[in-house]
Amino acid sequence: MAITQQDVLKALSYVEEPDLGKDLVTLNMIEDIQINGKLVSFTVILTTPACPLKDLIRNACVNAIILMVDKEAQVTVNMTSRVTSARGNNEALLGGIKNIIAIASGKGGVGKSTVTSNLAIALAESGAKVGLIDADISGPSIPVMFGVEDERPHVFRTPDGKNLIQPIEKFGIKIMSIGFLAPAESAVVWRGPMASSALKQFITETDWGELDYLLIDLPPGTSDIHLTLVQTVPVTGAIIVTTPQKVALADAQKGLQMFRQPQINVPVLGIIENMAYFTPAELPENKYYIFGQGGAAQLAERWDVPVLGHIPLVQSIRESGDQGTPEIMNTQSAAAAVFNEVAQAVAQKISVRNAGLEKTKIVSITR
Ligand SMILES: Nc1ncnc2c1ncn2[C@@H]1O[C@H](COP(=O)(O)OP(=O)(O)OP(=O)(O)O)[C@@H](O)[C@H]1O
Ligand SMILES: [Mg+2]
Repeated sequence: MAITQQDVLKALSYVEEPDLGKDLVTLNMIEDIQINGKLVSFTVILTTPACPLKDLIRNACVNAIILMVDKEAQVTVNMTSRVTSARGNNEALLGGIKNIIAIASGKGGVGKSTVTSNLAIALAESGAKVGLIDADISGPSIPVMFGVEDERPHVFRTPDGKNLIQPIEKFGIKIMSIGFLAPAESAVVWRGPMASSALKQFITETDWGELDYLLIDLPPGTSDIHLTLVQTVPVTGAIIVTTPQKVALADAQKGLQMFRQPQINVPVLGIIENMAYFTPAELPENKYYIFGQGGAAQLAERWDVPVLGHIPLVQSIRESGDQGTPEIMNTQSAAAAVFNEVAQAVAQKISVRNAGLEKTKIVSITR
């Protein structure tokens, strides 16, 4: 009997997207079914190009067709993606940006900017459109980490008379930072309301175009900048970076609590444990837990959020950041592989969040 489209769809309706807990047909993830004798091909539209379950889903599709339709079928599964969003359809503000992700910590120096840079590039390398805002107004470090500290963005006028800033592009990422506008040594003048209005301007007056993910590297602690962010744009989710050290964890908890406050209510997608263990370059198998062990896991359990990954403390992460070519660019690096896994975990959590929770809203706080 000839294979039909219905046969294929029926079989694929038994394949579940493990994260989303529904089948691929119900989720509208199947397109472009082609049948030619025993040759069957179709496209699976994933919710992110950084999907860690690609191979698993592909194998499940092939098995379903062979088991339920025709054991001699030759199945080709094409994979593509359409990144999902939890934003309303008609939002005028930054309508082209699907997901806005805040990266925060409590304590300073735990590696937010390092993690954000590497994640941004990992997501872009997977095929996503990525933007990055350095919201650390008083200590911007993203320009150095991307080797673009001497660049100055252009401002241009749109046909309807609005001024827009052209973000700096590097490694496929659109970047905005206060570091592009003011020399580092003068940054001390950016305080309180000025810093907040600078951030607002970065977000709303930059020509971001279409983005799947806009990552926001926040300053340490819980400041006015954090409030400005959630009051200016609907934040899809927050990621907390911490080291395993007790003092860092205590501060990370404060950061987490801030997003969880009922009037802010930004979902915390997970915790990234940075400097989780030290690995010397000459003994790559050895792990030394110099800041302690298991701290992020405990915090995660207590607050019922996942740990998205454990990033080692390695000298090359620091060196590559200082040199303006983040570690992820080094394909030989074991730490780069860890950053890739963390990026997949982040993308996965964003997809799950978008499928499950209510739409993101701009926070209105009356003080
Ligand atoms: N996993 C790591 N291994 C080695 N060095 C690291 C690692 N993560 C971060 N660093 C280094 O630690 C320093 C602080 O990192 P980073 O600037 O990313 O932290 P931060 O949390 O953004 O700091 P701030 O609170 O000042 O914004 C940098 O010199 C960076 O290169
Ligand atoms: Mg930083």
